[in-house]
Amino acid sequence: MARVFVTRALPFEALDRLRAAHEVDVWPDPEPPPAATLRERARGADALLTMLTDRVDGALLDAAPSVRGVANMAVGTDNVDLEAAAERGVAVGNTPGVLTDATADLALALILAVTRRLPEGAARVREGRWGAWQPAQDLGADLAGATLGVVGFGRIGRAVAQRAEAFGMRILHTSRSGGVTLDALLGEADVVSLHVPLSPATHHLIDSIALARMKPSAYLINTARGGVVDQGALRDALQRRRLAGAALDVTDPEPLPADDPLLDAPNLLVVPHIGSATAGTRSKMAAMAVDNVLATLAGRPMPYPAG
Ligand code: DGY
Repeated sequence: MARVFVTRALPFEALDRLRAAHEVDVWPDPEPPPAATLRERARGADALLTMLTDRVDGALLDAAPSVRGVANMAVGTDNVDLEAAAERGVAVGNTPGVLTDATADLALALILAVTRRLPEGAARVREGRWGAWQPAQDLGADLAGATLGVVGFGRIGRAVAQRAEAFGMRILHTSRSGGVTLDALLGEADVVSLHVPLSPATHHLIDSIALARMKPSAYLINTARGGVVDQGALRDALQRRRLAGAALDVTDPEPLPADDPLLDAPNLLVVPHIGSATAGTRSKMAAMAVDNVLATLAGRPMPYPAG
């Protein structure tokens, strides 16, 4: 029986499969284990089942030399130093595919919410400010005939494009096959939706220069990673009305403090990283992560290797 450290309680049956086969130590708090605690609990473990909030780097792996595999319960692996893991012979797995639809659905929900000004309207109703119907009140943007720019045309980007086509949107994307340059996309799109992984190459991909290329009537949607957007530049663009609005499922940092200046920006909707948050999707993600752990501990390659 091997030892597995799981960094968050997983209310899914997959954890029972893991418990049936191995000794499982589960971090019980809703907050992630602090780095020192993570190192402490990982020491002596043979595998780790981690979340996107856990930093897995060379220092952690050196403190836990018996770890043979890290199963990250996320498709993104920017919290894992893949190079450090490879250098130490540690397998890393992720959960691709199963969260594509849920994340694409959320991207569409954000597009609709921000272009049709749902948060403002809902707030007015709750605050008792729902006055008489006005011909020119609450006017949003039409999606039919508008152009969606998909930055990062992988599984999720394509699923967003498919949904947007059903709304009558024209699609531009940045992929090498049939795509356009990022600059061209930014200049033409009415809605820009981000779907690139976070890496040194994509950190602050959407900076002040990129935002200045967008139309003042355009909207920015981010369901990828907060670090892809320079939030200071975004706040500035929204405040100066250089952009019509933005909707973010991801920020840098997460959680975004309630007094973060970004939240003062107009026409901004922020939700708390819920792209994959459906019961079915999270259950499948847990199952994949457990499958990765079980394979590693059985001496087999992970079925869902990262990278
Ligand atoms: C992921 O899996 O990377 C997502 O961001 C989780 O919602």
